[in-house]
Amino acid sequence: MTLKISVIGIGYLGAVHAASMAELGHDVIGLDVDPARVAALQAGRAPFHEPGFEELLRRGLASGRLRFTTDYEELAHADVHFLGLGTPQQADGFGADLSHLRSAIASLAAVLPARDGAATLVVGKSTVPAGTSRSLAATIEQVAGVRLMWNPEFLREGFAVQDTLTPDRLVYGVPDPDVEDDRVALLDAVYAPLLEHRVTRLVMGYEAAELVKVSANAFLATKISFINAVAEMCEATGADVTDVSRALGMDDRIGHKFLRAGVGYGGGCLPKDLRAFLASAEEHGVGEAVGFLHEVDAVNQRRRARVVTLAAEMLGDLAGRRITVLGAAFKPDSDDVRDSPALDVAARLLEAGADVRVTDPEALAGAARRLGPERVVAGTEDALAGADLVVLLTEWREYRDLDPATTRRLVDMPRMIDGRNVLDPRQWREAGWEIRSLGRAAAPRGVPSPEATPSVLVPA
Ligand SMILES: NC(=O)c1ccc[n+]([C@@H]2O[C@H](COP(=O)([O-])OP(=O)(O)OC[C@H]3O[C@@H](n4cnc5c(N)ncnc54)[C@H](O)[C@@H]3O)[C@@H](O)[C@H]2O)c1
Repeated sequence: MTLKISVIGIGYLGAVHAASMAELGHDVIGLDVDPARVAALQAGRAPFHEPGFEELLRRGLASGRLRFTTDYEELAHADVHFLGLGTPQQADGFGADLSHLRSAIASLAAVLPARDGAATLVVGKSTVPAGTSRSLAATIEQVAGVRLMWNPEFLREGFAVQDTLTPDRLVYGVPDPDVEDDRVALLDAVYAPLLEHRVTRLVMGYEAAELVKVSANAFLATKISFINAVAEMCEATGADVTDVSRALGMDDRIGHKFLRAGVGYGGGCLPKDLRAFLASAEEHGVGEAVGFLHEVDAVNQRRRARVVTLAAEMLGDLAGRRITVLGAAFKPDSDDVRDSPALDVAARLLEAGADVRVTDPEALAGAARRLGPERVVAGTEDALAGADLVVLLTEWREYRDLDPATTRRLVDMPRMIDGRNVLDPRQWREAGWEIRSLGRAAAPRGVPSPEATPSVLVPA
């Protein structure tokens, strides 16, 4: 069945969702308040880097089943409206800022016609604190025939298209899961091609659906900070965290994913969702139950500071020293720089007086906005020229595959901090580099530490 669908808020989540819904055969209109974003999408240009998205977008536009607008009036006759609005951290606290959602709901309510027959479904996809759906439903369901569901999104940037078209589960939040509800059948009709491929669909109460998403992100952040806390212990004891995590992950109750020690998590989701979870738990009087998440956040911040300490251990005074930061995006295969550990570390190095250059295969514009255009260099080779220290902070394949001998010829001094544990320190040391990795000793036992014998370091 072809449905008329709108997607409100066409950022990372919404744009991919809109193009994916067109791919499933629906007639889709995407809306945003940002005219530049709408114009780019309507012209078939992805406003962000996401593998496979531009092809999907162009296919949707060419099919005639996908278009974009800034005008809420054009949404009035859709059967299903998805909400893809941002829920950033509040400017003055840990809580989620729901103002974009509330404003979109008000704009939508103003144009929706009252319907007596078929229901109009509004489906929230944003990540929100428990209790949000019920409070938004009280507003939007005042329009006759309108029903609200919450259907949190689990896509990962870098895999957004694949995750939207082949999700590992669909979660439907409804006001009362024990009551037969025709809104479930309507959302099933939207996702019919996915359900035919046996994607598991779970129906639950609004608050459970909201909590699935925030607790998933809090859990992932906890797993990353756990191995990073172990990394701190490794640094104190001389153990190698990559040995520990390799062996730990072999226990299938633990698993390898999100168990790589490094400079920690960032992006537009994990940091703010963890903090929103803390704020929401406190509002509900159960702050103590999740108090450990404060420490998860603190471990994550300490790893960023640790990179700066390591740089100072290697260079002494950082003032005026040329440092090349490899990576600006919060993770590879994305140009998203929201709360990027790489840019945070770069900013801290700048504050310490270093002469910092940042490069990234896709996120140069975001880096320039945060650090200033004079700090950004396109192309790895140009960025490496003249470096006293290289700091790898986003594990793009291009950086993981760097050859130590070739790279050595580009820099002034062969010093490297591997903030993601993706380089083989032995190989780099053999090529004459002083390399430090988070959670690993300065040099393997029995091998003289380069900083103990700085004379081994010769300009390249
Ligand atoms: N990015 C991800 O990987 C991801 C994954 C899962 C869930 N989420 C959640 O999805 C939500 C959206 O995240 P995102 O990364 O796509 O954010 P985003 O900032 O990229 O997109 C939000 C869009 O909403 C638009 N907008 C703001 N106010 C509006 C209004 N009143 N009417 C219409 N449009 C409006 C903005 O211009 C922007 O384009 C968040 O709650 C996030 O936590 C994101």
